[in-house]
Amino acid sequence: MTKGKFITLEGMDGAGKSTHVAWIPAFLQARGVKVCLTREPGGTPVGERLRELMLDKAQKLHAETEALLMFAARREHLDKVILPALDAGSWVVCDRFTDATFAYQSGGSGLPWERIAALEAWVQGDLQPDLTLYFDVPSEVGKARTQAVREPDRFELEGRAFFDRVREGYLRRAHDDMRRMRIIDGTAALAEVKQSVENIILSNCF
Ligand SMILES: Nc1ncnc2c1ncn2[C@@H]1O[C@H](COP(=O)(O)OP(=O)(O)OP(=O)(O)O)[C@@H](O)[C@H]1O
Ligand SMILES: [Mg+2]
Repeated sequence: MTKGKFITLEGMDGAGKSTHVAWIPAFLQARGVKVCLTREPGGTPVGERLRELMLDKAQKLHAETEALLMFAARREHLDKVILPALDAGSWVVCDRFTDATFAYQSGGSGLPWERIAALEAWVQGDLQPDLTLYFDVPSEVGKARTQAVREPDRFELEGRAFFDRVREGYLRRAHDDMRRMRIIDGTAALAEVKQSVENIILSNCF
């Protein structure tokens, strides 16, 4: 058992993770909680370098290479950032975590679900987030939102069918663990989504 709580945000590109991760730390701090804000892939110097490699448009990695690099970065992130923060009593808020590897590398890229589950068990043991906020949007909504604000990265160049499978992967994870992973309608108006997130955090974490 760790002292702090571990909250992750999930959803496809454009679902709203960064939008909500921007206010959640202050919301928690106002309730007396110490917060460590981080993201995946990344969160450590090595993890950020692996992130650059994985999002690089110039080279499409084999899906297994991608999954292994994701978990290599995650192992480092747990060791250097997440576990020390939780042990010290901070809450960790992380923009993407393991559900994204199931959704993208299994759902999207087609690796067997059990392969990812084996890596998850190896790298995380029993550790799971206390709460996962999953922003659910159809692929065309995610794509329209990201296209409006920036150049596509490696994953965002994938087509609609890929992102439809990413969404199915996320929904499978959510249905497998409905206590941990809450499905939020990411197509609702921003203020409405924010209200849902506040309600879920208050009723699950305090
Ligand atoms: N509920 C919403 N209604 C309308 N627009 C939204 C909503 N939520 C987010 N957006 C807008 O969609 C865009 C993408 O949102 P955001 O950057 O939060 O997505 P993300 O999940 O972090 O995506 P990525 O995985 O690509 O980082 C932003 O311009 C944001 O303002
Ligand atoms: Mg983001």
